[in-house]
Amino acid sequence: MRLYTGFLVHPLPQGGLEYLLDGALVVSDFGQIVFMGARADALCDYADIPEEHCENAVILPGMVDTHVHLPQYEAAAIGTGELLNWLNTYIFPLEARFADEEYAHIQSQRFFYDAVRLGTTTMSVYCSSHRRATDIAFEAAFHAGLRVCMGKTMMDNNAPENILYSPDENINDSLALAKAWHGAGNGRLQYTLTPRFAGSCSRELLKKTGETAHAEGLRIQTHLSENPSELRFIAELFPEHASYTDVYHAYGLLTDKTIMAHSIYLSSQEKSLLKAHNCAIAHCPCSNRFLQSGVMALRQMLNEGLRIGLGSDVAGGSSLSMFNEAKEAAESSKTWNILHRAQEMPTVGAEEALWLATLGGARALGLDEVIGNFTVGKDADFIVCDLNEILPQKSSFVSPENIISRLVYGAHPHVVSKTVVQGKVVYQKQNSR
Ligand code: GUN
Ligand code: FE
Repeated sequence: MRLYTGFLVHPLPQGGLEYLLDGALVVSDFGQIVFMGARADALCDYADIPEEHCENAVILPGMVDTHVHLPQYEAAAIGTGELLNWLNTYIFPLEARFADEEYAHIQSQRFFYDAVRLGTTTMSVYCSSHRRATDIAFEAAFHAGLRVCMGKTMMDNNAPENILYSPDENINDSLALAKAWHGAGNGRLQYTLTPRFAGSCSRELLKKTGETAHAEGLRIQTHLSENPSELRFIAELFPEHASYTDVYHAYGLLTDKTIMAHSIYLSSQEKSLLKAHNCAIAHCPCSNRFLQSGVMALRQMLNEGLRIGLGSDVAGGSSLSMFNEAKEAAESSKTWNILHRAQEMPTVGAEEALWLATLGGARALGLDEVIGNFTVGKDADFIVCDLNEILPQKSSFVSPENIISRLVYGAHPHVVSKTVVQGKVVYQKQNSR
């Protein structure tokens, strides 16, 4: 067992954060939280366990990235233009490089190493369309020790030939990968059926994806309603459907294990469809700005009871840091208000953004029984953040709320000093100050 003590902050199921200034977390040998509460009580009840006191630090649940593309990491913060041109110019050629196993291996290792270094403990990942590169990505995730819901990106239309596969190849490869990896790493690795979006999938592929998800009980991730030119493209491709969401509905892709990235321009009927099927949404504000896609009405969607997590959407988003994404979620909710002065809504602040990046993401991935906060019985996925990186030496703004505000808005790249998944240290910063 391990006993960690210090300043604990974690999200509560009913909303808001709980602050324990002098708190303690006891972790079993199986990586589960067996105690969370006051340090004094822990020191008494667990007197025989050596204390690991986290001085000048804040202990938080690990960050959850609900939408990210591994093979695009090299293009993060590079390129211009909007979605469809950007995909053709920068992204498809880059994803094609994952046919090279050596390249896939190096990129996958780097991707997961950087994620845990930035405090992310769970990721919902799109790999390239290659079966072997996806296998290599699972191996890398296994060795990095973090938690992933991940799949081979399925495409059979509207992209270069060298990254397209037939519907049967896509489904058979996905099933083989699911068989090899789903549930591996003590449940940390899960397989997700990953049709890229309706724009790169034929009706046959969409239909087979829906049937496979139902038959196998697998997760689904895809993109929905992201960019105006994409909306026009989908309407031209699928004129027989009432809406973009209806395309996915018709092929059985709306399930309670489905997560839709973006979902900016949804009609009320589309939102009702998502709600009726209990689908989740990955809100990706950095990407929505970088690709000039739009500003999602986050507050309204939260008020309407949609299940929403945050996604970096690298390389649409330019950083793997979920602190950065949380900051952008807060800023984007203000931008929405600037653009809609007459319908002004309460903005999303730093605390709520952190809630969305942790428990919100866990809920969106249906993992909130296992991770997302420090409830006893959940897995110990947590990070230790260095207050020296957050606050100037002699700050007078040291209230718990201000610390969280600095943490989110500062999004400092070196703020994480330790990352723990299922009780195991997967990253430890060297030369901590
Ligand atoms: N829509 C279809 N593919 C992609 C992608 O790779 N990134 C983003 N942001 N949107 C997409
Ligand atoms: Fe994306």
